[in-house]
Amino acid sequence: MIRIDILSVVPELLESPLSHSIVKRAKDKGLTQIVLHNIRDYGKGNYKQVDDYPFGGEAGMVLMIEPIFNIISKLKSEREYDEIIFMTPDGELLDQPMANRLSCKGNIIIICGHYKGIDHRIREHLVTMEISIGNYVLSGGEIPAAALVDSIIRLIPGAIGDETSALSDSFQDELLSPPVYTRPADFNGWKVPSVLLSGNPKSIDAWKEEQSLERTKKLRPSLLKGENEN
Ligand code: ADE
Repeated sequence: MIRIDILSVVPELLESPLSHSIVKRAKDKGLTQIVLHNIRDYGKGNYKQVDDYPFGGEAGMVLMIEPIFNIISKLKSEREYDEIIFMTPDGELLDQPMANRLSCKGNIIIICGHYKGIDHRIREHLVTMEISIGNYVLSGGEIPAAALVDSIIRLIPGAIGDETSALSDSFQDELLSPPVYTRPADFNGWKVPSVLLSGNPKSIDAWKEEQSLERTKKLRPSLLKGENEN
């Protein structure tokens, strides 16, 4: 069972992506527990303040340390955490090996930034890992967190109906997946490759392998060189 606590000022952004499909199934089967925490519930004073102007006079608001510190302290008093992750474009790029490693963890906290950023002391003293989903800037860490959680959950054994299907994903062996087709075999003259209709498992496997390699060479050659190309 992997427990994931996500801290955000707009947890609503995470609700839908984490309530359907494979993630929902994994939760229903008890393979994972995902708990959303609204940072605002821990805000200071009557106004539940969670952000403030930055020292040094830059534009934009900064998420304050106290509310985030208080949630993390409460969670840590209840159980041990393996990682406290902050989603940021400054972080290490998410790739399949990282998702594989995280899917073996027990308890994880994910902090989503918003506004200009979060008080840097959270990153210095509490965060154990910073993750980026790509070299572009989004409005907050919620969509990156949803992508990260999805990439982790689908790897938990039992989350996907067909146990082998996560293992045959693109990237799992540094190769892209071969193309897939379904009925009709002939759609207005656009035909499915005949080998897939041959019923010969050996030739089908050979064709899939060749397609994987060819597509990787053509579309993502850096994967073959083992480079992180993000
Ligand atoms: N927050 C904003 N942009 C992000 C990105 N690309 N990856 C992770 N967190 C982010």
